[in-house]
Amino acid sequence: MSGKLSGKVAIVTGGAGGFGKGIAQKFKEEGAEVIIADFVEEAGQKTSTELKCEFVKCNVTSRQDWEAVLKLADEKFGRLDYVINNAGTTYRNKPTGEVTEEDFDKVFNVNVKSIYYSANVIVPYMQKKGNGGSFVNIASTAGLRPRGGLTWYNASKAAVINGTKSMAVEYAKDKIRFNSVCPVVGLGTGLTDFFLGKPENEKTFMATIPLGRGSTPKDVANACAFLCGEDFLTGIEIPVDGGRCV
Ligand SMILES: NC(=O)c1ccc[n+]([C@@H]2O[C@H](COP(=O)([O-])OP(=O)(O)OC[C@H]3O[C@@H](n4cnc5c(N)ncnc54)[C@H](O)[C@@H]3O)[C@@H](O)[C@H]2O)c1
Repeated sequence: MSGKLSGKVAIVTGGAGGFGKGIAQKFKEEGAEVIIADFVEEAGQKTSTELKCEFVKCNVTSRQDWEAVLKLADEKFGRLDYVINNAGTTYRNKPTGEVTEEDFDKVFNVNVKSIYYSANVIVPYMQKKGNGGSFVNIASTAGLRPRGGLTWYNASKAAVINGTKSMAVEYAKDKIRFNSVCPVVGLGTGLTDFFLGKPENEKTFMATIPLGRGSTPKDVANACAFLCGEDFLTGIEIPVDGGRCV
């Protein structure tokens, strides 16, 4: 533990389970206060109690909900330093011609529009406070090295990486940093089955990862904490992928 995040306040979206829970746990261990923002209330409350975090029910596709998260951070802690945009979704791996409009809208709303809202609502607050800040957006190796079967999910994560870089440049003057973390397929997290399509694909997929396994919540959390703890890193994406993108 570096203690680098001590005294800071972080929002982790989708922190009820999966990678997000690992991120919330790591930030707590590093001394930060954490607000878990998730739209599943029961699991969110349970995880927050377990990790001693705050919980707020929030659908990341709603501007109002983002405003409520910010209000909680300000009222409870008087500051907000880190936003970890982790909540994400996909449709099950399938031929691109079978992707419905509903599938398409869902991945772009949850994966991309959420980040637009986070920045629109929270950047003005950070600018006013004048203490800088750090956004870490959970993208994916899918946004760096796309393969068929998940076209519009892949494109949504490429949009995350690109938007993150643009904002890094734009808000550097305010010392608000923007970076992405790109996990490879998760080891047992919620979306993994959807990416693999069928359980029998798991072995073949793992064989494409030089280090031979998927990303754990701890792998992803370590990268997020590193990015928040360093003050000269902005506009980059870190593959947390055991060499998959090489
Ligand atoms: N699992 C993988 O294989 C993998 C690989 C690369 C990247 N990712 C990315 O990592 C992130 C987390 O994935 P995971 O596998 O841990 O997922 P998960 O399903 O285990 O957890 C996602 C969490 O986000 C919450 N969530 C979903 N939509 C939401 C919304 N609209 N508002 C608020 N909360 C919402 C869910 O309730 C859940 O708690 C996602 O952005 C995903 O795209 C996952």
